[in-house]
Amino acid sequence: MKEYKIAVIPGDGIGVDITREAIKVMTKVSEKYGTKLIFTELKAGGCAIDEFGEPLPKHTLDVCKDSDAVLLGAVGGPKWDNLEGQQRPEKALMGLRGGLGLYANLRPAKVYDVLKGASPLKNEIIDEGVDLLVVRELTGGIYFGDRGRCDDNGIEAAYDTEKYNVSEIKKIAHVAFKSAMKRRKKVTSVDKSNILESSRLWRSVVEEVSKEYPEVELNHLYVDNTAMQLVRKPSQFDVILTSNLFGDILSDEASMVTGSIGMLASSSLREDSFGMYEPIHGSAPDIAGKDLANPLAQILSSAMLFEYSLGMSEAARDIEEAVQNVLDKGYRTGDIFTEGTKKVGTAQMGKLVLDEL
Ligand code: IPM
Ligand code: MG
Repeated sequence: MKEYKIAVIPGDGIGVDITREAIKVMTKVSEKYGTKLIFTELKAGGCAIDEFGEPLPKHTLDVCKDSDAVLLGAVGGPKWDNLEGQQRPEKALMGLRGGLGLYANLRPAKVYDVLKGASPLKNEIIDEGVDLLVVRELTGGIYFGDRGRCDDNGIEAAYDTEKYNVSEIKKIAHVAFKSAMKRRKKVTSVDKSNILESSRLWRSVVEEVSKEYPEVELNHLYVDNTAMQLVRKPSQFDVILTSNLFGDILSDEASMVTGSIGMLASSSLREDSFGMYEPIHGSAPDIAGKDLANPLAQILSSAMLFEYSLGMSEAARDIEEAVQNVLDKGYRTGDIFTEGTKKVGTAQMGKLVLDEL
């Protein structure tokens, strides 16, 4: 029997609730296809600060490195919000992304037909369809650039630096074009090249790389315009290729456009099949442990794990179909609940998906 090692980092808040459900789903699907998943549960984020005094213990990173894939819940919460930069739970995310070399962050945002009403945009905009993929560079740019405090002519100052080299841009551009080839063959590269030098380099490298993908249509947009276009006409986008910081912002906006942030999964990848999979939403500490969280984004993240890291596309499709069936039958957690649908908690939602498999 084929065996895979899966590192599981539930993290903080609802990360714990939703990961529990995803693991049950993964176990059932893997059995169906005659594979065995060996889960190792690890700590990172606030819970690791509490137990080990640091957000990303070396042990956690080491076990991840030795696994086939990582399933992550969410990290952070008000309890740790006043800690210094190096000690914050978010530092765990940076350590995992950087330490595992996960430079490509794929964040699909699509509107589920049955959840159309949940989008804050007008029906006629949503009816044109929203099905886009943000390809965000994840291990470079201002998130990892030189930063510090300094003296600015006697006034206290601080700085962060946005820097990209040609190789970093090339790598992420290839991911975007390859993704587009499997989709609607359109890449929108987003930058701020009217102002930033790093964006001018970004744009020229993306142009170069695009020559290797003659079938893919490439256009460039400034980030401010993109923010506007995303709410004006989201249907115009297929793949959005962008930097770490712009991708952070635009992926939140894109997820809100769909109205179902509790449904959106993401993957962080590198050249080989290894990857880290997590929902787009945060740790929602206010509803943690109360059986209120929507586990579907985490369950759909596990589908991405099967697809990209284990090469089990059919298993991924099974999970996606099971989720769709549960929604079609009218079951909803509180975040996506509307009049006339049936409200369920985290555990029951997990069970409903299991029953469909
Ligand atoms: C995300 C999050 C993180 C980021 C935070 C929690 C550090 O917003 O994954 O989008 O900025 O990358
Ligand atoms: Mg973000």
